[in-house]
Amino acid sequence: MIVLRGAGELAALDGLRLPGPLVFVPTMGALHEGHLSLVRQGAALGPVVVSIFVNPTQFGPGEDFAAYPRTLDADLALLANEPTAVVFVPEVGDMYGSAGEVTVRAGRRGEGLCGGARPGHFDGVLTVVAKLFGMVRPDIAIFGSKDAQQCLVIDQMVRDLRLPVTLLDAETVREQDGLAMSSRNRYLGVADRARALCLSRALAAGRAVLEGGVRDAGLVEAAMGEALAAADAIDYAVVRSLPDLTSCESSLAGALLLAVAARVGPARLIDNVALRVDSAGVTETRLLASAPATD
Ligand code: PAF
Repeated sequence: MIVLRGAGELAALDGLRLPGPLVFVPTMGALHEGHLSLVRQGAALGPVVVSIFVNPTQFGPGEDFAAYPRTLDADLALLANEPTAVVFVPEVGDMYGSAGEVTVRAGRRGEGLCGGARPGHFDGVLTVVAKLFGMVRPDIAIFGSKDAQQCLVIDQMVRDLRLPVTLLDAETVREQDGLAMSSRNRYLGVADRARALCLSRALAAGRAVLEGGVRDAGLVEAAMGEALAAADAIDYAVVRSLPDLTSCESSLAGALLLAVAARVGPARLIDNVALRVDSAGVTETRLLASAPATD
């Protein structure tokens, strides 16, 4: 495993002549099994480059940029045990600071849900991901489905800017009790960790309503909201159509995202499940393969 620190060292990537399609797993570090599963899936396709960069522009004022766990040594130790070819660790100055800087703005998929609760968040994500794509020049990039809206806005950026990269969404990795793995789970003490299960339970409650034959979005959302009562504050508990995250008509059908976000103690947590609802019933589906793009 080769560690390239800073954009200067990244120039060495070309010289490595890595065989096969280059697979990219961008991260903000504080790695967990979810990230490692992306690396393993990527390694089945080609040599994997992982980036570690806590991106300041995707945090709003008052959010947890300063507190976000920075665990580079532990991250590198984890990656050394995985099929990682290269780790790229940029500096802030490698990514930002040019005068009159150009940024990317998330379109409609970035409105609402986390985009509503965290204004500017997806502009920051897209700007840094576009820069990282330009620097690493991957053939394939893999993102975790837990950040469903992030996957979908990046998908729209890749389409609209005609970026030459194939995106893959990977299944959310969960703890045994159902909690979606997240770097922010580190913020949870024992009692909050137990309460955090309300997110996955809310998704299960919404799904159970659908499986019971109900096709009314309001009833599904009410069931999810009820299960989230254990949280300190609910950001959203919604059903949206995939892939454009539009509000659903009253009769739910097709590819849908059940999505929740809530504050539990010091952590703002999110979770989701992508479902296909049709005459065969309710089945899990993938985000990016869920439906053709609308434009
Ligand atoms: O999902 C993340 O860790 C980040 O949003 C990403 C994609 C690495 C951009 O900073």
